[in-house]
Amino acid sequence: MNFHKLTPEAIKNKVVLVRVDFNVPLKDGKIQEVTRIAESIPTIRFLLENGAKRIHLLTHIGRPKGENVPNLSTKLLIHEVSQQIGEEIEYREAFAAGENRIQLHENVRFWKEEKKNDPAFAQKILDGTGAEVFVNDGFAVSHRAHASVVGFAGKIPCLAGFLLQKEIEALSPFLSEEKVPGLVVLAGGLKIETKIPVLTHFAVTAEHILTGGGVANNFAIAQGYNIGESFYQEEFVRNARRILKIANQNGTGIHLPIDVVCADDPESVNTADFPLEDVIGSAKIFDIGIHTIASYIEILSHAKIVVWNGPVGLFEKEKFERGTKKLLEFLSQHKNAKVILGGGDTLEALKKFHIPKESFAHVSTGGGAMLEFLEGKELPGIEIVRKK
Ligand code: 3PG
Repeated sequence: MNFHKLTPEAIKNKVVLVRVDFNVPLKDGKIQEVTRIAESIPTIRFLLENGAKRIHLLTHIGRPKGENVPNLSTKLLIHEVSQQIGEEIEYREAFAAGENRIQLHENVRFWKEEKKNDPAFAQKILDGTGAEVFVNDGFAVSHRAHASVVGFAGKIPCLAGFLLQKEIEALSPFLSEEKVPGLVVLAGGLKIETKIPVLTHFAVTAEHILTGGGVANNFAIAQGYNIGESFYQEEFVRNARRILKIANQNGTGIHLPIDVVCADDPESVNTADFPLEDVIGSAKIFDIGIHTIASYIEILSHAKIVVWNGPVGLFEKEKFERGTKKLLEFLSQHKNAKVILGGGDTLEALKKFHIPKESFAHVSTGGGAMLEFLEGKELPGIEIVRKK
């Protein structure tokens, strides 16, 4: 892929607007995991060191739905971002330029125009900041055609930041429309909804799809299991059935947990391991069981490429962390497979289990963006910086 690249000539003495994805997990106003910030520092430092006149950073945090939600304010990031850049940055409330060389603007999703890609909103940002060049470094949000991602195209030059380039280079070798020998996909996380297109794609190209979390529950329902009161999305069971059919036609194994860890609610002290077919009544599934871990590890041990998105259990709670922890530990030691991980939850899990990112072929900052890219879709935020 050929991009309009970030060069010293393109940004020298210019006011530069940078879309980053600093959508980091926050708890009680504190950042829990900083990878998404750290990964954009090379782009910001390059701008500083190569004479950009002023740098305006734009990001979203969470999904505030056009409302001003104080616990999703970028004010909470100022200290961390300043520390990582090694220079004071200034918080700006409504896209007006301040004094500092680097300014971080308020959460773009506090304005409902952001999601609608309202041209007047993009223009308001350009007028307020005086930006002359746009750099997209927010790979993780590049699947969204939102104003701060695509709205500056055609108005000022749009360039690819280093993180965006790095992600595309790392993920491109794994794009394929055909069956990929040795490809095993691990699909977890709570909701199947966002994963339907990519699971449909991998039902053709992967050899095996191993499921966990809410995603597995949807497949369990589609295959007629009772899953007690476990979470699943009824409106997508039909899609799960379709994916099973496609997998069947293409010789792809879709694997459900054979056993699971259940409790009546996540705070409960009483948990128990059950075979999947014995889950009944008020039981809720919160992790995969010990036999499932063993069978998934057996399949993964023969894999040549592994794509992982989404934890297989509620790993934030110690009693439900085992499945995610054991599988990540195994993959971090798997020397014969290229392992690609993605998604904010996965980054948090690596931090929690002290597993270095360097143990894997690539750890993507993108969740949905990584999946859509691997599915072969054109991502709007990439299209605007691509040379055609
Ligand atoms: C992500 O967390 O995947 C990105 O920041 C995009 O967030 P979104 O799914 O809320 O658009």
